[in-house]
Amino acid sequence: MKGIILAGGSGTRLYPITLVTSKQLLPVYNKPMIYYPLSTLMLAKIRDILIISTPEDTPRLQKLLGDGHQFGIHLSYAVQEKPEGLAQAFLIGKEFIGDEPCAMVLGDNIFYGNGFGDKMAEAVRDANSGKATIFGYYVTDPKRFGIVEFDKDQNVLSVEEKPKNPKSNYAVVGLYFYPAGVSAMAEQVKPSKRGELEITTLNDMYLQEQNLKMQILGRGFTWMDAGTMESLLDASVFVQVVEEHQGMSISAPEEIAFRLRWITKDELLDSAEKYGKSPYGERLKAVAEGKFVK
Ligand code: DAU
Repeated sequence: MKGIILAGGSGTRLYPITLVTSKQLLPVYNKPMIYYPLSTLMLAKIRDILIISTPEDTPRLQKLLGDGHQFGIHLSYAVQEKPEGLAQAFLIGKEFIGDEPCAMVLGDNIFYGNGFGDKMAEAVRDANSGKATIFGYYVTDPKRFGIVEFDKDQNVLSVEEKPKNPKSNYAVVGLYFYPAGVSAMAEQVKPSKRGELEITTLNDMYLQEQNLKMQILGRGFTWMDAGTMESLLDASVFVQVVEEHQGMSISAPEEIAFRLRWITKDELLDSAEKYGKSPYGERLKAVAEGKFVK
C-alpha cells in the first residue's frame, strides 16, 4: 500500500500568512501542519509516501522532512505545477503508485479519535480486495464539502461536490483509500465546471462500479480541515487542550514510529536531541525513556 500527501494549493484563504510560506508548514499548536496527515498515513501502517506540493513549497517540505528515515519510512516528493484538482495527484503519482493500492490524505486535514487505526486497517483490507473507501463526518455546513448520501446500512447512494442542495450532512473528509489501478481510473476523470479534476468524480466512478465503501467517523471523533483562519486557530487550541489535558501527543510521527517499532530507542533519542529544548523534543525524550505509557 502506497500513500500520498497532497500538500499544494495556493493557500489564498490564509493570506497574508501564506504569502511566503506553505500552509502545510504553519504551526498547529506545537508542530508543523504536515506532521498531522503524515501521522495519519503512518497509523494506517503505510511506509512509502509521496508528498506532492507546489514548485515553491516542495523544497521547503523536503528540507523539513527529508527522506523520512527518522520516522522509519521512505518519503519522496513530486511537484504539482498548478492546483488542477485533487484527483490529479494520481496522475502525478502514477509511477510511484505502480500496481499497488494507494491512500491519499490532504495536507491540511487533521484526524484524532479512538479506533482510527482499526478503521484505516479495514480500508486497507478493502483496498486490497478491490474496493475504495471514503469517510463521512457530520457537519453543519454541508455546502462547503464533498457530500455523501447513504442508506440505513451505510451503502453509499451518491457523492456530490459542494452541492447547492445537500442530500445529507455528511462531509467526505480528505482521506481516501483506493485499490490498485487508481491512476488508470483517474486518467478518465474529466475536468469539472470549475476546471478541476475532482476527487468526487473519481469517487463517483468507483460508486458506479459498486466498489465504493464508506465508513462513518462518528461522535467522539475529531476531523478538522485547518485551511481557514478560524479552523487553523481551532485546530491549535484543540491539540493544546487534548495534549495538556490527557498528557498524550497528537500526531508526533517519531513517537508513532517508535511505538510501531519502525525506529529504535536510540533513533528516537537522536530525534529528541535534534528538537533541542522544545516541549516537542522533551516529550520525545520522555517517551524514549518509557515515561509515557499509551
Ligand atoms: O477537506 C475535505 C474536502 O476537501 C472534501 O470534502 C471535498 O470533497 C474536496 O474537494 C476538498 O474540498 P476543498 O474545498 O477543501 O478543496 P481545496 O481546493 O481547498 O483543496 C484541499 C487541499 O488540497 C488544500 O489544502 C489545497 C490542496 N490542493 C488543492 C487542489 C485543488 C492541492 O494540493 N492541489 C490541488 O490541485
